[in-house]
Amino acid sequence: MNTWLKALPKAELHLHIEGTLEPEQMFELAARNGVTLPYASVDEVRAAYEFSDLQSFLDLYYQGMTVLHTEQDFFELAMAYFARAHDDGVVHVELSFDPQPHLARGVALGVPFEGLERAMREAERRYDISSALIMSFVRDRPADEALDVLEQAQPWHHQLAAIGLDSAEVGNPPEKFTAVFERARELGIPRLAHAGEEGPAGYISGALDALDVCRIDHGVRCLEDAALVERLRSKRMPLTVCPLSNVYLRVVERLEDHPLPMLLEQGLKVTLNSDDPAYFGGGMLNNFIACHAAFGWEQAIFRQLARHALEEAFMDDERRSRLL
Ligand code: HPA
Ligand code: ZN
Repeated sequence: MNTWLKALPKAELHLHIEGTLEPEQMFELAARNGVTLPYASVDEVRAAYEFSDLQSFLDLYYQGMTVLHTEQDFFELAMAYFARAHDDGVVHVELSFDPQPHLARGVALGVPFEGLERAMREAERRYDISSALIMSFVRDRPADEALDVLEQAQPWHHQLAAIGLDSAEVGNPPEKFTAVFERARELGIPRLAHAGEEGPAGYISGALDALDVCRIDHGVRCLEDAALVERLRSKRMPLTVCPLSNVYLRVVERLEDHPLPMLLEQGLKVTLNSDDPAYFGGGMLNNFIACHAAFGWEQAIFRQLARHALEEAFMDDERRSRLL
């Protein structure tokens, strides 16, 4: 089954590129850029990956990304991920990045845009992996700042497949970002948001109503509201579910307790994704394998999940029809 899962052409729709930073590369970039890390060794970094909730992860995630300084750093970060994704049988990656923490430490907006773009072109050549770029706003920062970043990013808007919304969810409801998302809509940029990961089902409804999103990242808490489930099903709204992430961040205690089988039973358009693979126990293939171990799904279920992702990917239709 593992060989079959590896060969299944997979599209990854929910991936934070800063969350692909493996400890070895963290040390390498820290040395190159003169950044002092609060860890003595790679093993010490790995030992620190013991999370109690989303915030305890975010603290390490923001700390880790401080080693990224130059276009070349972002290029190498993404290339290292594309190589691992290719090994996992991934044919398409939608990578999101968080410009605000980089800007806050003096890394200009063009640095991630240019470095990631170069890696995306190189991945196409080297691995025949297509990709799309998502700029995510950090929801625990002020909404005005997000709007300002969206305007500042104007020279790179043509590179964006979508904008997203991530970071600390509870206490930062989607409605806080109505104006930014309205501006993106005017600019013709598609919109996504994390919702219903730690936050309540009402944040998913809020993302649909206030932000007019075409995809919900996570969304696992939708099951708390039957009317919302019906709404998501009738709209065929994709949910980018991240099973191992949900275990590592204690959204569920064990994968066996995950609502994935119930989401599928409800007829929802679920996809499987890795979220932050360096922090959450591995990439796409590990997520697929873990689901097989936990739920005993047969090939038809995995085919359906992979099809959902290909159908919803920001990908040209000729490539999509070849892959479907
Ligand atoms: N949730 C919210 N924000 C994030 C995550 C996540 O899993 N990863 C990176 N930013
Ligand atoms: Zn995420």
